[in-house]
This record gives sequence, C-alpha cells and structure tokens, in this order.
Amino acid sequence: MRAWMLPAGSDGFDKLYIQDLPDPVAGPGEVLIAPQAWTINYRDFAVASGKYFGGALKQPSIPLSDGAGEVVAVGEGVTSVAVGDRVQGSFFLDWVDGPMVMGRALGDGMGPGMLAELVVLPEQGVVKIAESLDYSQAACLPCAGVTAWNALTRGRMVRPGDKVLVLGTGGVSMIALQLAKAMGAEVICTSSSDEKLSRAKNLGADHLINYKTTPDWGAAVKSQFGGANQVVEVGGVGTLAQSMQALANEGEIALIGVLSQGEPPSPHALMMTGGTLRGIFVGSAEMARDLNDFIDSNEIEPPIGGRFSFDKAAKAYAHAWGPDSFGKTVIEL
Ligand SMILES: NC(=O)c1ccc[n+]([C@@H]2O[C@H](COP(=O)([O-])OP(=O)(O)OC[C@H]3O[C@@H](n4cnc5c(N)ncnc54)[C@H](OP(=O)(O)O)[C@@H]3O)[C@@H](O)[C@H]2O)c1
Repeated sequence: MRAWMLPAGSDGFDKLYIQDLPDPVAGPGEVLIAPQAWTINYRDFAVASGKYFGGALKQPSIPLSDGAGEVVAVGEGVTSVAVGDRVQGSFFLDWVDGPMVMGRALGDGMGPGMLAELVVLPEQGVVKIAESLDYSQAACLPCAGVTAWNALTRGRMVRPGDKVLVLGTGGVSMIALQLAKAMGAEVICTSSSDEKLSRAKNLGADHLINYKTTPDWGAAVKSQFGGANQVVEVGGVGTLAQSMQALANEGEIALIGVLSQGEPPSPHALMMTGGTLRGIFVGSAEMARDLNDFIDSNEIEPPIGGRFSFDKAAKAYAHAWGPDSFGKTVIEL
C-alpha cells in the first residue's frame, strides 16, 4: 500500500513524503479499512511541525486523524462492523462513551494515522458513517465535526431560539454553524473576509461580522444581537476576552482552539454574566455516532472548500494552511 509519511523530528508539512509499505493485516478485535477520503485539521499542522502535545515525532509516522472508507477485512471476534461497511475512525480510540478518556489518538505519531491506502483500527475506534454522506463528506467529521457536536450538545446544550456565535470560517466553525441551524439556533459568524462571510451566509449564517473591519466584534455581538448563548471559541487566548464580552447571561463558551496569540484575559467578565467556560477535546465514539445520526436526520452536507487527489496531499496541506481555505479541505483517492 501507499502511505504518506512524516519523518522523525518533522518541522513542517513540507517534509511529507509518500512511501510503499507492506499491507497491514487485521488481528483479533481489529478492522482493516481502505480509506477513500481524508480531511486536514489545524492540529495536523501542529503534528507536522513538532508542536503538538507529544512534541516532535519520535519515529516516521502516517499523519491525519480524519479519514473515511470501506471495511475490507475484520479480525477474529469483531461483531459491530462487517466487510463492505462504510466507516470512519474515531479520534480518541479509547474514548468509547461516557466521561473523557485521553488515550491513543489518531494521527498524532503515537496512534495510527489515516493517510494511507489501508489502515488497521481497533473495533472500538470504528464508527459507521451517515447513509446520506459520501466518503469525502464523512471524512469531515472525526475531529472538526465531533468537536462541534460536543460544543453544542454537552454542557449547557443549544436550544431552539438560542444565539450561537462561531468564530472564523474554518472546519470546526462551519460544521458548528450547520449543526446549530439544524437545532433551531440563530447563528452569528465572524470572518476576516467578506467573501467568506457570504459563503457562510449560504450555509445559513443569520448575522455576519468582519472581525478585521469590526475589531470590537465581541461588543458588537452584545449590542446588536443581545449576546450569544453559546460561543464556539476556536481563537483561544487572543479572542477569549471578546468572546466573554459577547456572552448573553448564563451563556457558555466552548473553549476549543488555539488560533490566536495574546495574554489570557481576566475571567471577571464571566462573573458579570453568570457565564461558563467549558474545555472541549474532540469527543467520544458515541458522540461520533450521535453526530452521524443527526446529520442523516437533518440532511446536512459538511462544507468542503477544497479537493485534492491522494497524490497531491502535500498541496492539500498548503491549501488548508493558506488564506483561501474555507470549511474543510479534502483529499480523495
Ligand atoms: N479542542 C479540540 O478538541 C479541538 C478540535 C478541533 C480543532 N481545535 C482547534 O480549533 C481551532 C480551529 O480548528 P480548525 O481545524 O477548524 O481550523 P481551520 O479549519 O484551519 O480554521 C482556520 C480559520 O480560523 C479563523 N481564524 C483564525 N484566526 C482567527 C481569529 N483570531 N479570530 C477568529 N477566527 C480566526 C480563520 O477564519 P477566516 O479565514 O474566516 O478569518 C481561519 O480561516 C484550531 O486552533 C484547532 O487546533 C481544537
């Protein structure tokens, strides 16, 4: 099989190379998958540049957490999936359901990576995909989709009529926008680009704010729309102060991202609104199943902003990293 690899000590996605490797075999309790599509997350740049939690890669590794494909073999004892099933990987292989379990994670250099023609996963880390989705759409879900689902359905939980604020037009935010609309919420979307805002409007965004031309966007959300009940916070320390300003009374900030720099803000603003700050780290296989069910019931098509062939995976990384990326960037077999 062919696999894309990052070398030990990789310091950027320009180090990606393609390699022929022996076909893997499913052992007892394992599933052999032939991925047909993959997507790139912001996290994959951190892994490639040695800045993810584990630090620089210790050995050559297959990257990416997000892939979807067909089951081509199952090992002894596997009962939940069969040959021919359409599946995706679950980001945390050991977080099956219930409270968070930090364990093996796909594509971090320690767990298996998905960007190969064949991948073996433990049965508990395999999730059947929504019938309504093709492989490229399904590949948008394991990291960005499940994170958005966790943000909107745990903790305070979004209700019809809520106002949900999504920051920027990246993968997590655009899927959160679609999910929040299907839950009956009003969605406020920010972006650095008017052109991307108009694309967010096409996905259902009700209110649009350019955070470059409206640098006090947090106050604008509060004064123009009465505040957000839920914030999908992908910016991190550099945007958190304004997300707190944007919060309606007893709202919740789902703390997800690390896109911006700055000093951590004072938490006092949260006291003034009775607000909650909740950390999110992707989610469980159970959340992935619930998300796929919700997508089937609500005819949601995850937003794909760029498509590249398997041979052009390095170009896909460059596009996802660049200024033209919108929603998810997909690699297709
Ligand atoms: N905690 C978790 O479990 C988890 C899971 C998934 C992702 N994340 C994190 O969430 C963040 C987003 O991930 P992603 O994969 O969705 O990224 P992405 O697809 O690469 O999205 C990048 C987009 O974010 C927007 N952005 C950048 N800086 C911003 C700022 N200062 N204010 C507002 N928007 C800004 C930009 O939108 P415009 O171009 O429209 O301005 C940019 O296009 C990353 O930090 C990632 O590491 C965390």
